[in-house]
Amino acid sequence: GRGEALRGKRVLITAGPTHEPIDPVRYIANRSSGRQGFAIAAAAAEMGAEVHLIAGPVHLATPPGVTRIDVETAREMAAAVDAALPADIAILVAAVADWRTADAADQKIKKTGGALPVLQLAENPDILAGLAGDPRRPALLIGFAAETEHVVAHAQAKLARKRCDWIVANDVSGDVMGGQNNAVHIVTGQGVESWADLPKDQVARKLMEKIADAVR
Ligand code: C5P
Repeated sequence: GRGEALRGKRVLITAGPTHEPIDPVRYIANRSSGRQGFAIAAAAAEMGAEVHLIAGPVHLATPPGVTRIDVETAREMAAAVDAALPADIAILVAAVADWRTADAADQKIKKTGGALPVLQLAENPDILAGLAGDPRRPALLIGFAAETEHVVAHAQAKLARKRCDWIVANDVSGDVMGGQNNAVHIVTGQGVESWADLPKDQVARKLMEKIADAVR
């Protein structure tokens, strides 16, 4: 039955945004709600998997049967992913910030009436690309790609660049980020499957069923 398809499989999922501190009261963020990743975690747990969900700052309840690790920054997320290995399947849904501030200020930055503050940025670790090259690489490694144009072409390029197995690509030019629905394209070495616009929990169940077929 549905509760057995992923029995014995360890599934690692990242979800939500990351927050990158500027000073003690300010941060760099993005519009990810974490809903799609949490729905995937819920669906994986319903199918009997052992689910480890590494969540950025979101306002969502932990799905039943899921082990949740809360993090704030990309570097914390990378460390939590490392600590959660090994896994049979990893699905990296998080909208990880590409950049952090090179040096977060220890005290609140004040207006001086003079020069404007300049934010010096540093690149964050790419968790997905890192996992792809790790000796503990999960047997099935899946990334997400939020794009505003040329969705499938960008996803195909990302699949090759990040050396993962599948990219789930979605068009975020509308209100997907934070919204209830998602229209995705599953891009694999075998080709592209485009799914209809569906509620995020249905995208999650359909994706987990495809994953269960692939690892069976
Ligand atoms: O390159 P881009 O950020 O669009 O790639 C998206 C995919 O890579 C997602 O699966 C996301 O979770 C993952 N990613 C990551 N670490 C980063 C940036 C993206 O794991 N620093």
